[in-house]
Amino acid sequence: MPYQSSGTISRIRRSVFFCALASLIACGPGGTAAGTPIPGATISPHSASATKGMVVSASAIASDVGRNVLVAGGNAVDAAVATAFALSVTYPVAGNVGGGGFMVIRLPDGRATTIDFREMAPRSATPSMFTNATGEYSSTIHHRSHKSVGVPGTVAGFALAHGKYGRTDWRRLVDPAVHLASDGFSVPPGLAQSLAGARAYLGIYPSSLAAFYKNGEPYNAGDRFRQPDLAATLARIRDHGREGFYHGETARLLAAEMRRGGGLITEADLAAYEAKERAPVRGTYRGYDVISMPPPSSGGVAIVEMLNILEGYDLASIGHESPRYVHLVAEAMRRAFLDRARYLGDPDFTKPPLERLTSKAYAAELRATILDDRASPSRPAQVAVRYESDQTTHFSIVDADGMAVSVTYTLENGYGLGAVVAGAGFLLNNEMGDFNGKPGLTDTTGLIGTDPNIALPGKRMLSSMTPTIIARDGKLVAVVGSPGGRTIINTVLQVVLNLVDGGMGIQAAVNAPRFHHQWLPDVLFTEHNGLPAPTVAALEAMGYHVRDGGEQGTAHSIFVDPRTGTRVGAADPRDADAGASGH
Ligand code: DON
Repeated sequence: MPYQSSGTISRIRRSVFFCALASLIACGPGGTAAGTPIPGATISPHSASATKGMVVSASAIASDVGRNVLVAGGNAVDAAVATAFALSVTYPVAGNVGGGGFMVIRLPDGRATTIDFREMAPRSATPSMFTNATGEYSSTIHHRSHKSVGVPGTVAGFALAHGKYGRTDWRRLVDPAVHLASDGFSVPPGLAQSLAGARAYLGIYPSSLAAFYKNGEPYNAGDRFRQPDLAATLARIRDHGREGFYHGETARLLAAEMRRGGGLITEADLAAYEAKERAPVRGTYRGYDVISMPPPSSGGVAIVEMLNILEGYDLASIGHESPRYVHLVAEAMRRAFLDRARYLGDPDFTKPPLERLTSKAYAAELRATILDDRASPSRPAQVAVRYESDQTTHFSIVDADGMAVSVTYTLENGYGLGAVVAGAGFLLNNEMGDFNGKPGLTDTTGLIGTDPNIALPGKRMLSSMTPTIIARDGKLVAVVGSPGGRTIINTVLQVVLNLVDGGMGIQAAVNAPRFHHQWLPDVLFTEHNGLPAPTVAALEAMGYHVRDGGEQGTAHSIFVDPRTGTRVGAADPRDADAGASGH
């Protein structure tokens, strides 16, 4: 049974808000083309509606923690701090203090900003650090070693956001996570299944085995799960803020773990970590304002570029999931992903041509290269990028004043490197794997060696995380985002298209089957074979290579009804323990 959140005011049927957003423009064809739910998923139990505030995250327990902050008078940034630390306890696959991410904030007066808390390369990082003794690229060093750990940004990021935009005492926001870790909580079904599946991955590290298993055995759903070392780390963060993580006991334990495992991060690297406030990337789509994350995320640039291309087509009158619809969207994806690989990296090191990439004029040039009835070729000589798995997490928050927060944060792989910092109870990320592997090494297996994203001391690795906020006529409309590596950008794109052009309610827009194209490999991935067979056949005739890509993303989103101001939370049923919690 999906979790029934205690804070939920009312459960809605998808039809109630079906055409709410589209009614501002034109309701989609027939007004009834709600997305087909993914197999086995139910729709309404993951929705909640409320008049004041709403939190939607991958863990219903964490959503309730955030909602309680809103009820007590905290704003959306306060709730984000509390939700994020709670997720580090209840959703260890991606919730974290040892990783990093991005936050997009829209204030009630319409101003917007972003917080970049992406991990940074340690000061001894070098461009060739992922090669072995004979100079060959090593995927193991790049993704599965202590050298794959970036300097964590999460604690600094939430501290920065809280210091500038929060209003509740920090200690009250972190305290619920301390208690969840020390007192324990009843293991929800999704967590039980996830930890059982990760036994081999985590089990190679004794510290991880001790943290996540009882005498080596997985917890069952309903068991009480306590994490005393994590509780002590969270208590230091509660009592000392960012100092409690980047200095003192936690920093010492992390640096010792690095020395044990052959990693590069030192106490000096931790002390030097800096989260940054950056101006958002902005675009427009059929009258809606799109506010998203700038580099070092590629997500905001890519989504604006794709929406600009697609604005030139009347998507609402082209059948959703028809061959032409999928073709046009996939061609937009293909072009944005090529630009991603060519141009994007940490803006403190490389200056991507952001204005051009996000301009309507550039989109018109790209649109002119899209053929009506054929897939364009993807040429390996241009660049190649890997297809990625799906472990990061996104949450969305709106408060009573209309402040909106969109957060995506990650450890990179599910459970990051898999290694818990001994004595500190939290997992290390393996985010350095998002840097290019070796300068100049671009090949058809999926490696890229382009300059903008080569590892250097203090540099942030390129990301695809796309926390996004949609507004119209000065009013908040939606908060969206997703995990899923490079599929993230395309998941967020499709939720927006489903709302604006597909005329779907937010839950249907989230549930609808998704697809993904990322230039190379030249494959159109569809979710659980979610496209109709005639559509697939027509796409193959146009030159597409269509494959089942499994599940794509978990887009926990919020829609604000423009007529009533009702906050509609849509937890993505692809996350078993997810919940929307409002008041
Ligand atoms: O920042 C990124 O784009 C990735 N590290 C996100 C990772 C993710 O979603 C899961 N994939 N491996």
